Amino acid sequence: MPNTVSFITAHFDKYNTDDLASCLAIGGFGGLKRALGLTPAELIQIIADSGIQGRGGAAYSTGIKWRQAAEVPGEDKVVICNADEGEPCTFKDRTLMEKDPFRLLEGMAIAGYAVGAKHGYIYLREEYRHLRPKLQKAIDQARTNQWLGSHIQGTNFSFDITLYSGAGAYVCGEGSTLIESMEGKSGRPRIKPPFIKECGLFQKPTLVNNVETLSAAAAILDFGAEAFKAYGTEKSPGTKLISLAGNVRRPGAYEIPFGMTLETIIETIGGGLEEGRTLRLVQLGGASGRIAPASLLDTPYTYEDLAKAGLDVGSGGILVVDDRTSVIEFLESIQDFFIHESCGKCTPCREGNRQIGRIIARFADGAPRPDDLETAKRFATIMSNCSFCGLGETAQSALLSAIRHFPEAFELGAFGEGDEAGLKANANVKASAAGVAVGETIGKHSFKGERGERA
Ligand SMILES: Cc1cc2nc3c(=O)[nH]c(=O)nc-3n(C[C@H](O)[C@H](O)[C@H](O)COP(=O)(O)O)c2cc1C
Ligand code: SF4
Repeated sequence: MPNTVSFITAHFDKYNTDDLASCLAIGGFGGLKRALGLTPAELIQIIADSGIQGRGGAAYSTGIKWRQAAEVPGEDKVVICNADEGEPCTFKDRTLMEKDPFRLLEGMAIAGYAVGAKHGYIYLREEYRHLRPKLQKAIDQARTNQWLGSHIQGTNFSFDITLYSGAGAYVCGEGSTLIESMEGKSGRPRIKPPFIKECGLFQKPTLVNNVETLSAAAAILDFGAEAFKAYGTEKSPGTKLISLAGNVRRPGAYEIPFGMTLETIIETIGGGLEEGRTLRLVQLGGASGRIAPASLLDTPYTYEDLAKAGLDVGSGGILVVDDRTSVIEFLESIQDFFIHESCGKCTPCREGNRQIGRIIARFADGAPRPDDLETAKRFATIMSNCSFCGLGETAQSALLSAIRHFPEAFELGAFGEGDEAGLKANANVKASAAGVAVGETIGKHSFKGERGERA
């Protein structure tokens, strides 16, 4: 594929993922081998030098996070791999686990060595249950061959991994909520402090990292921080696995160097839109991300350039929506998702999402009240400022950016049309927004299903 690179994905399709021996034959576990010859401080310095930022959405420096976790006192620390990947239109973590499961185990062991943890958990979202056997087999083989377990490769370092299945709630991707659910409680975020790095799973100091972050850390140890930094820009070094979805000819997970424009991503990597279609909008970072009009397609995909344009890398999702879906229909899908996924713990998010849902439904029906737009803006701002966790804080990103970039969509008479082709395309976009492949059943979440509730 033109313009894509192979750093984190270097081992994709090069070995049989059910067979550790074939992984070792192409240099598998090279990163862990190198790490075990370093002190934890030296290893953390390499990760810090690479400049990698967490790929779970918050983009916090992994080097700093590992150093802070290493400094927390305690013999019994835990590493959790966040494989919840609940952000709609994001499937790069799934691709990493499918195509290179040993890289992830290696990254977790490296993180464990760096921070002083003896045990790791993979928190796998329920919808990825098909990956359980593959991951369990990889863990078992790694343990049998001393890449996990007691005295890894004859050293004094011991580290093991347990696979854990979530129950399928978006909010459980948030670090403290994930831990609550692992402790058998309902999936709602914790009050902080105490922070999970000091008091996490069963009160143990806990490091939570995303699948891509851990896989990338292993590749950085393997190939070197300089090789990673050879890609990207000064402020966004390295490569990123993106999930390209929606109305493009070639949706998929692709590894790109930071710095490529959105246009190149859509046209060259995604193959562009279908003949005769024009771009309506692009949403970056999943359902909690902002939307951009075609005029922003020349923005380079870096943390700094996207921020300047009012956009985010977020989960790495890039959802392309063509002219068959109206802005209001798109917002309806997003809003239905957040109404469904709000955990209900705090009022701004629980009530705000429902009220905004009712307003968007009135716009969709072509019958908004005169003050609906102002009310929606006010609720959205209150939600951003007053919600208890990141879900409520970001749920209105799409709405607020739509008001900014597509004011005409909120004028009377701008909504409601749609031919048969349009309806089909909408279904595809809505399936992507729900995080399922086009053509798959959307499952428990029916986008129109809550209409009655809002009436
Ligand atoms: C509502 C919500 C959902 C989240 N979902 C995920 C997720 O599915 N996967 C993930 O890695 N991080 C998710 N996060 C971010 C995590 O809280 C955390 O920042 C991340 O796992 C840390 O890993 P990193 O430092 O490697 O990015 C979510 C955050 C919020 C607020
Ligand atoms: S913002 Fe509040 S209601 Fe929404 S998911 Fe977080 S804690 Fe739950």
